[in-house]
Amino acid sequence: MDQRLLDVTQFLRERLPVPPVLGIILGSGLGEFAETISGAVRLPYSEIPEFPSSSVVGHAGLLVGGTVTNAPVVVLSGRIHYYEGHPMHEVVFPARVLGLLGCRTVIVTNAAGGINTAFKPGDLMLIEDHINLFGTNPLVGPNDERLGPRFPDMSDAYRKDLRKLAATVARRERIPLQSGVYLGVHGPSYETPAEIRAFRRLGADAVGMSTVPEVVVLNQMGVGVLGISCITNMAAGVLKKKLDHSEVLETTTRVKDRFVRLLKALCGALGEGRSGDMMMSGKALPKKKTAPKPKPKSKAGKK
Ligand code: HPA
Repeated sequence: MDQRLLDVTQFLRERLPVPPVLGIILGSGLGEFAETISGAVRLPYSEIPEFPSSSVVGHAGLLVGGTVTNAPVVVLSGRIHYYEGHPMHEVVFPARVLGLLGCRTVIVTNAAGGINTAFKPGDLMLIEDHINLFGTNPLVGPNDERLGPRFPDMSDAYRKDLRKLAATVARRERIPLQSGVYLGVHGPSYETPAEIRAFRRLGADAVGMSTVPEVVVLNQMGVGVLGISCITNMAAGVLKKKLDHSEVLETTTRVKDRFVRLLKALCGALGEGRSGDMMMSGKALPKKKTAPKPKPKSKAGKK
């Protein structure tokens, strides 16, 4: 295995207050959540030897380890992007570290343009699935079987049980949650209106320049993924206006309270299931408590 991956994982193991079971990757302008974790260890990416760091405004580059509503978490505030010119193995490096640290579930978040015309800027969207239009895949090249299989299954990439849980939690918190397919592009230019029309025909609801590579490697490692997009703007051509990165940041600022509240509630729900090791198996999720069913009376003489 890549010695750097092992070194960074070991470096973090020695510094994190609790071994994390939940990882959270915060997208553009969504770093606020990391500020709300108390009693946490905070490590700027620049202070983690050999950890890749980003140059984009709004991507702070901070790793935070701590406990959020019962769940031992590690949060990556800010990610590096393929459009910055980093090779794919660097783009997915932090996600692989989350897997190696022992995270059984990772919540990936991003800013995205709305393709579905029923969406509006400020909406949160549960990612159902993705379409990879990066033109490459992070697993291209020799495969290290210790990280996972050569041909990983992607048929439940954003795990259905986690999506169900997120929908329940959002309803309970009265946070409206859209649902749809995220299409990942290379960037960094925004799309043309013709591309957006084509993507709509392909079945995409939102478009962005991240997430897909990380989700591929997390699936390869057998880590459960939950994805949430913040629709920061309507995609090119949907409205008669030009796109601008400042709109992305304005919208994330506007929705940050709701977004932080949803993430906290998700940590609570995922942490709740830990006692029964539900995050490990990834299948059973915390159910609402119901009265125990009366035991069926056994018939005399029958075993
Ligand atoms: N396109 C691609 N990426 C994005 C967008 C968009 O419209 N908005 C935020 N990230």
